[in-house]
Amino acid sequence: MSNIVDKESTSPSAINISPELAEELKEKSKRTYQQLVAGNKAFVERSLAEDPEYFNKLAAGQSPEVLWIGCADSRVPANEVTGTKPGEVFVHRNIANVCVHSDMNMLSVLDYAVNVLKVKHVIVAGHYGCGGVIAAMGNKQFGLIDNWLRHIKDVYRLHSHELDLITDDKQRANRLVELNVVEQVFNLCKTTIIQNAWKERVDLEIHGWVIDIGTGFIKDLQVSCNSSVNLGKVFAL
Ligand code: CO
Repeated sequence: MSNIVDKESTSPSAINISPELAEELKEKSKRTYQQLVAGNKAFVERSLAEDPEYFNKLAAGQSPEVLWIGCADSRVPANEVTGTKPGEVFVHRNIANVCVHSDMNMLSVLDYAVNVLKVKHVIVAGHYGCGGVIAAMGNKQFGLIDNWLRHIKDVYRLHSHELDLITDDKQRANRLVELNVVEQVFNLCKTTIIQNAWKERVDLEIHGWVIDIGTGFIKDLQVSCNSSVNLGKVFAL
């Protein structure tokens, strides 16, 4: 491989640290990686000790009844938060759990979950202390992600009459986390995927949750939807 590497781009002068520190950082990074591999081995052993057929059953196929659309934040894993196991929750995650009308990734997951897996519940799960939401409340540029966070700025604009009255920054961010979930639930309801499914099924519901990472508990925002009735005249199709 070395013959195809541009020598100038690998010049050590590009990273201005001592050889000792470089070695220390490499070792630390290596340990993190090794822990993942060891963690996987422990997971397999633990699972097989509980049920020798565990992986044979998983390999046979999945029939989850829940689609989770959550934040990519490492502190809000769908299975752990809901006490479910592999095979029980179909998962899509992105920064600040946004459901964008033209996001082919989200739409593909939604279509597959609703029309092939026939999930019964779609849960949009935000969380307090969401870095994406907090960043969207500010005026600082972060790079490429600004284009994604702008969807949350749109949520702020829609609800600025309420949000601007909250003087405490943390409380205002928490409320925007909730309102963002509400708007993303609404965005899902607007899709033809959900509206068409509701014409054919009675057992499909969309929910909005916020996870309090300080307590572990979820808060149901009571915005569950199971029909197009309240979508308004331009969104109902
Ligand atoms: Co987040």
